[in-house]
Amino acid sequence: MSYYIGVDLGTSSIKMVLANEHGEILGSTNSQFTIISDKINHSEQSPKEWLYGFDQAFTEMVKKYPETKKQLKAISFSGQMHSLVLIDKNGHPIRNAILWNDTRTTDQVQKLKTEVGQHLLEIEKNIPLEGFTLPKVLWVMEYDKKSWEKTWKFMMPKDYLIYYLTGQIYTERSDASGTIMYDIENHCWDTELLSKYGIMEEQCPEILNSTETAGVFQEKIKEKYGLTNNVQVVMGGADNACGALGIIDDKESQGMLSVGTSGVVFCYSNHTDESIGNYHYFNSLIEGQNYKMGVTLSAAYSLEWYKENFSSAENFSELTNQAKQSSIGSNGLLFLPYLFGERSPYYNSNMAAEFFGIKAIHKKGDFVRSIMEGIAFSLRNVYERMELTDSDIKDKFRITGGVVKNPYWLQIFADIFNSDIEILEIDEGPALGALICAVYATTNKNYGEIWQEFNQIKKCISLIRKLRKYMIVILKNLRV
Ligand code: XUL
Repeated sequence: MSYYIGVDLGTSSIKMVLANEHGEILGSTNSQFTIISDKINHSEQSPKEWLYGFDQAFTEMVKKYPETKKQLKAISFSGQMHSLVLIDKNGHPIRNAILWNDTRTTDQVQKLKTEVGQHLLEIEKNIPLEGFTLPKVLWVMEYDKKSWEKTWKFMMPKDYLIYYLTGQIYTERSDASGTIMYDIENHCWDTELLSKYGIMEEQCPEILNSTETAGVFQEKIKEKYGLTNNVQVVMGGADNACGALGIIDDKESQGMLSVGTSGVVFCYSNHTDESIGNYHYFNSLIEGQNYKMGVTLSAAYSLEWYKENFSSAENFSELTNQAKQSSIGSNGLLFLPYLFGERSPYYNSNMAAEFFGIKAIHKKGDFVRSIMEGIAFSLRNVYERMELTDSDIKDKFRITGGVVKNPYWLQIFADIFNSDIEILEIDEGPALGALICAVYATTNKNYGEIWQEFNQIKKCISLIRKLRKYMIVILKNLRV
């Protein structure tokens, strides 16, 4: 029987999930990373850590499931987006990777806005942000000239891992989109933009489809792990796009909510209009299919922050029990979750979080509930700005992340999104999407067939039509 592995190269860890060809998940392993932040706004990682993490997780997998050595047919990857890896002619990383959450590039973003803001909206279909790759390249050109002079190729983190395994340098469409150097509609590097900023096309990796094969494991890799099979290495894609592939099986009617430290709304859509720039608009893993996505920076983190500072002796279920004593609209208390400023839809790092409307009647439970509501409203706000057309509008959301363990909070999401919310049997995150990508690329099954084998709905939280009531409480509060 053939085996498949999906790998998620995240920011704090690498995770690997093993499955057989019938969609049975056999096990998973992971290894943690550290982030180097030695200056304000800097966030870096050594690419060597990713190789070390891969080695740890893969070695453990092979040890736990020795059949993997001869049965592994294909592996594919999900990766943290936008982070910049530079390698020299010998294929060695030149400097630490500058990560997606590094915000040193405000000046470069301003420059791009002034010089090519309109061009970026027309071709790259996005506005420049500190997190994206192009501002990071401009920063290196200005402040670390020597590194740029030595740069043979740039790439994103999962592409570097693929290079290590196969010796081949490629990226694919979903990660190329997040560089904002890529023509979203024509699926190629934007040569006009590259030449304006002195980036040579040869420094960019060739772009494949997400389901194309980059190559097979090099002999030295096979020997290292004692593998006997030729393992196909399938490109995979950006983390949220992989996450969506693992939980959405009808791209027309379902959207994805992911609520972890940060929160994400993800909707497949090929429709663009003047709302472009309110959200990220990228190629997905599915050929010919784009998606709209927005990120709220402080989602579950807002609750963690509250607990740590004001209620460290209680656990989350105790806090939730107190929230249950509150009511819709938290008795008039509102929370804006902008602890880190905000990404979508405001793109403003100066925004601040706020409790609004505090009165003597408010109890701790009102505060906790208002945080839960504030995060759900913030994501709903992101969704509203997507301006989906009638054919793109989502009937239903599927939710993933830490929130799935909290039915009380899930109900708040259902009511605020005015939609049923489904949770899935398999909640392995982006690694599951990477697994599906590996199977799709190496069998003749379609996505629907693979999805049916790999996942199913665990529970549906039905909407109980409370949105109107929320709005009444909130409006009343604003009028006071
Ligand atoms: C997406 C983004 C994050 C990273 C995290 O635009 O910046 O989701 O991909 O890994």
